[in-house]
Amino acid sequence: MDLIEKLAERARERKMRVAMPEATDERTLRAARKAVDTGVALPLLVGDEKQIRAAAQKIGVPIHDIAIVDPFHHPSLERFHEEYAQLRRKENLTPEQIRDVFKHLAYFSVMMARFGLCDAVTMGAVYTTADVMRAAIKVGGVAEGVKTVSASVLITGLNPKFGETGAMLMADPAVVIDPDAGQLADIAIATADTAIDIFGFEPRIAMLSFSTKGSAKHPLQQKVVDATETVKARRPELLIDGELQSDAALDAAIGRSKAPGSPVCGRPNILIYPDIGSANIGHKLLRVMCGADVFGPILQGLAIPCSDMSRGANAHDVYVNIILTALKARRRTL
Ligand SMILES: CC(C)(COP(=O)(O)OP(=O)(O)OC[C@H]1O[C@@H](n2cnc3c(N)ncnc32)[C@H](O)[C@@H]1OP(=O)(O)O)[C@@H](O)C(=O)NCCC(=O)NCCS
Repeated sequence: MDLIEKLAERARERKMRVAMPEATDERTLRAARKAVDTGVALPLLVGDEKQIRAAAQKIGVPIHDIAIVDPFHHPSLERFHEEYAQLRRKENLTPEQIRDVFKHLAYFSVMMARFGLCDAVTMGAVYTTADVMRAAIKVGGVAEGVKTVSASVLITGLNPKFGETGAMLMADPAVVIDPDAGQLADIAIATADTAIDIFGFEPRIAMLSFSTKGSAKHPLQQKVVDATETVKARRPELLIDGELQSDAALDAAIGRSKAPGSPVCGRPNILIYPDIGSANIGHKLLRVMCGADVFGPILQGLAIPCSDMSRGANAHDVYVNIILTALKARRRTL
């Protein structure tokens, strides 16, 4: 059984209600249909009912058994507006400005979760990362004890000798553009928690750099050393090593020569890149040149689980995102 099927099986054990605000989008409709058919979640399509039904009919996707939530005449809309005014009181928003905010259905959907009307939100096939992030942070907030919201991606289909039989998490390719050492430590810890919460992996984290164990000296290399030390101090139970070049991290023989005694070299299942550029470029090279599958980005550190996606996502990617967000929500509602 492949990893995604295993995750689907876990999601089926306790179905989460997942709001989907991009509900006139073909990929969203097909993914919602599949989520119902495979029983991994209870999707709630958020939007104008007529438009959603017309879009579904056009592509021949039956949605008679999927709930549709009307965000424009919802009985809790006034309460949602009041709550948002409170949450963002420092912005001093007028009622009209708040109404405008809620025209973006991401805000309405995250507010549904805040009021217990759904467990998670799957979006990002249409909305930009920035729009998803702002709605998720401004309405849902960050999880307790978290400072930095970040993202990781799941890569599958690699040579089975890497990661967990060819599956690995990599971070952060999508949110924190130029993390300082403290934020890089937050990213590593959040990704370790994603590995535990969603995938049930025991995290083994390689903190990547252009240098291994001081082979070069530079503020960019020192940042990775400092982040590694911070993670060790904050979460001593995590297996982590850095700074490591990617060959030392991934090839056991090179690891033995460049970083002898490393607890991670040759067997990491999490790669933490030093910034968004290297993480984004790194995982896309794997997808395009090696045919690896990439799922996510998985947003980490949010109080309410929300997904993001590449706008190039297909219906299967959206379906996998429903599963990932549902599993994150399942953990939260335990
Ligand atoms: C996510 C992103 C939009 C946030 O941008 P921003 O300009 O800081 O956004 P805002 O100023 O509107 O922030 C809104 C709130 O979120 C908070 N916030 C933003 N990023 C945060 C993060 N990573 N962690 C925690 N809080 C964050 C801000 O502090 C702010 O809080 P406040 O208003 O209560 O003070 C920005 O980091 C970004 O564009 N990242 C890259 C996204 C991208 O283009 N990715 C492309 C690859 S897929």
